[in-house]
Amino acid sequence: MNTVLVGAQWGDEGKGKVIDFLTEEADLVVRFQGGSNAGHTVVVGDRKYVLHLVPSGILHEGKHCVIGNGVVMDPFDLMRELEQVESWGFAVKGRFHISERAQMVMQWHRAIDRAEEAARASGAKIGTTGRGIGPAYAAKVGRSGMRTGDILKPDFANIVREQVAEANRRLKALGAMELDPEEMVNLYQPVVPALMPYVTDTIQFLHEKLDAGASVLFEGAQATMLDIDFGTYPFVTSSNPTAGGACTGSGVSPRAIDRVIGVIKLYTTRVGEGPFPTELFDKDGETLRTRGGEFGATTGRPRRCGWFDAVVGRYAQRVNGVDFWAMTKLDVLDTFPVVKICTGYRRKDGFVYTTFPADLDVLSECECVYEEMPGWQCETSNITDYDALPANAKAYISRILELIGGKLGVLSVGPARETTLRLGI
Ligand code: GDP
Ligand code: IMO
Ligand code: MG
Repeated sequence: MNTVLVGAQWGDEGKGKVIDFLTEEADLVVRFQGGSNAGHTVVVGDRKYVLHLVPSGILHEGKHCVIGNGVVMDPFDLMRELEQVESWGFAVKGRFHISERAQMVMQWHRAIDRAEEAARASGAKIGTTGRGIGPAYAAKVGRSGMRTGDILKPDFANIVREQVAEANRRLKALGAMELDPEEMVNLYQPVVPALMPYVTDTIQFLHEKLDAGASVLFEGAQATMLDIDFGTYPFVTSSNPTAGGACTGSGVSPRAIDRVIGVIKLYTTRVGEGPFPTELFDKDGETLRTRGGEFGATTGRPRRCGWFDAVVGRYAQRVNGVDFWAMTKLDVLDTFPVVKICTGYRRKDGFVYTTFPADLDVLSECECVYEEMPGWQCETSNITDYDALPANAKAYISRILELIGGKLGVLSVGPARETTLRLGI
């Protein structure tokens, strides 16, 4: 059984927690896009682990974890994270693999990311994580990037020199400080021995495992509405976090995918800039942020919070072909007397969009159409059986499923492993 898991909203839906839950029955966990802009949290007992580049499956001994060709990998972020994972007591050697085709995020990509963001006018800022993601993907598509396999080459130092010379032209144009090529050559020397043991042809590796009957879990980072093609462009990330990205980012055929699981929070959050139709600026938004602990796992920024948006949910169901939903953070809504679901965006002339408009100017002129439902006002985090949920909570979930399509597969009612209800999967 090969499963693709994707985020349905603007990220931080609880993908890390659900991946950790599903890793139990997988043999391999594969990251296929994004980079250290991701922050995936797994809570085990009283310990909290946050993973950025390494697949969340690493917390399960014996499972293989792969960074696929579609990922952009910052070698220093990765080295730090691997050390951290080992310090937590999990073995890495022999079960962690990086594609030689994965692009590398270098210091100059981070410098360009920061300089480009600083140069954007107010209102045009993206609020990137500053991890060099956009410039690394731009270099990839521009056919001038560096791949992980380059660290195996004898002329690695020269590749670095050429890259820095090219990047300096861009940095100069942006009015940012240029980098010293020799300093960069020296800086990157330790990367070679540290990462060499993990670099391999992961396409070959994955296919050997698949041929032998292994189950693969594809761990999406970011989310549908941050997708470079399907998201709120240009306020997006630079990769395809949607289900199709699992194939292009790993070298596995769409025909090998058995199911798609969408992770969706039972309200909405967004971190960084860009449109967010159901955003709340009142005390309800504050309650969601406080109760949900909505602060970025990568940057620590407070997340913007709002009601559940069924237009987004339906769009994500279609774009990804979601079979099953993993619905998360029901418990965060426990105290609300009323919960709201956005079912459409109403234009000034009365027309209601029930699918996500491509044009953000159109969106900015719309207002949300809400359905109100009574809250349940009791604790759900201790519930282990779906039937034992308060009737109003079940009605809220059922109404959402009716609006967005797909089936319920997992329901999460707290951050810890045990607070996960398994339903139809
Ligand atoms: P990801 O990026 O999709 O992996 O999500 P993050 O880890 O960035 O953010 C999700 C946050 O919500 C983390 O702090 C999780 O520990 C927490 N979390 C996940 N599921 C639940 C849940 O059902 N209830 C509550 N209260 N917290 C949850
Ligand atoms: P996970 O995997 C939430 C957002 C940034 C910014 C935009 C572009 O934890 O869900 P980038 O650095 O990618 O160029 O920034 O995307 N963003 C995320 N928001 N969760 C994430 O990852 C994100 N990764 C990027 O805040 O708005
Ligand atoms: Mg996150």
